[in-house]
Amino acid sequence: MNLAASFATRLPAYRSRLDATLDRALPPLGSDPAALHEAMRYTCNGGKRLRALLVYAAGEALGLDAGLLDAPAVAVELIHAYSLVHDDLPAMDDDDLRRGQPTVHKVWDDAMGVLVGDALQTLAFETLTRDIPADGEAARRLLGVIAALGAASGSMGMVGGQAVDIESEGQRIPLERLQSLHARKTGALILACLKMPLALAAPSADVATALTDYGRLLGLAYQIQDDVLDITQSTEQLGKTAGKDVAQEKSTYPALLGFDAAKALAEKTFADARSALAALSDKADGLRWLALEIEGRNH
Ligand code: IPE
Ligand code: IPE
Ligand code: MG
Ligand code: MG
Ligand code: MG
Repeated sequence: MNLAASFATRLPAYRSRLDATLDRALPPLGSDPAALHEAMRYTCNGGKRLRALLVYAAGEALGLDAGLLDAPAVAVELIHAYSLVHDDLPAMDDDDLRRGQPTVHKVWDDAMGVLVGDALQTLAFETLTRDIPADGEAARRLLGVIAALGAASGSMGMVGGQAVDIESEGQRIPLERLQSLHARKTGALILACLKMPLALAAPSADVATALTDYGRLLGLAYQIQDDVLDITQSTEQLGKTAGKDVAQEKSTYPALLGFDAAKALAEKTFADARSALAALSDKADGLRWLALEIEGRNH
């Protein structure tokens, strides 16, 4: 299976589309309030951009034009960046380092961290609506994109997972509860990377199910792996403080199942995610390739 020859060759083009769209979406440097706008751009620097790449790869699987995917790719990265700024605040995980740089509340202050997150969140939805299609059917599909991202971001998705994460500190929660925590706090936004392109296409039920199963499993695997990397990697490699989960008595897979079982479950869940695509054509090779890349990541 020569997946690398396909999607990897298109990565630079996708990254530059993303960067250009992000640059257009963010308020210009120097515009008032200058400090807020500087902090928003600071927050959006770096990162692996895996969610955006998933949007483009899902678009390939569905035969969508890349031009339709730029706004959803930026929107999910904006929501993700906001979630990280808030996650790092002293009231939550209290982290000093993110993407190899001091966190927003360290460079500025806590109020700026709150406001940057708020502004990035609303900018995500504004970006999706910047070019509302004149065609009624296309506009209806865009509403589906907005609904998918909204549901994934809110209390039934990422924010809900973050709430359960905080209330579960120092506790031993049942495995089912931990799975739901991870599926929400990280899985929901990753699943939205599949759901947004699905809302723009009109796929068969089989294709929709395959992509949804892939997104759900990949999202869960992603957070189990994040828990594992928190233990195995250095702060330098991660670009964020290693060993935080144990220090903060977080409910994680290694804490509940033990390190080896957590690592094995991450591997199995990644394999299951790839298997979900088994019946799809080589148009899904980008998604297959990304799952392997994500599984092999070291930060
Ligand atoms: C970190 O996400 C937080 C989690 C949801 C696990 P990423 O590891 O994707 O962070 P960036 O975007 O590459 O910095
Ligand atoms: C964060 O999970 C998930 C988010 C919604 C941001 P973590 O707290 O484990 O993420 P890191 O390890 O700080 O990146
Ligand atoms: Mg956290
Ligand atoms: Mg954290
Ligand atoms: Mg973590």
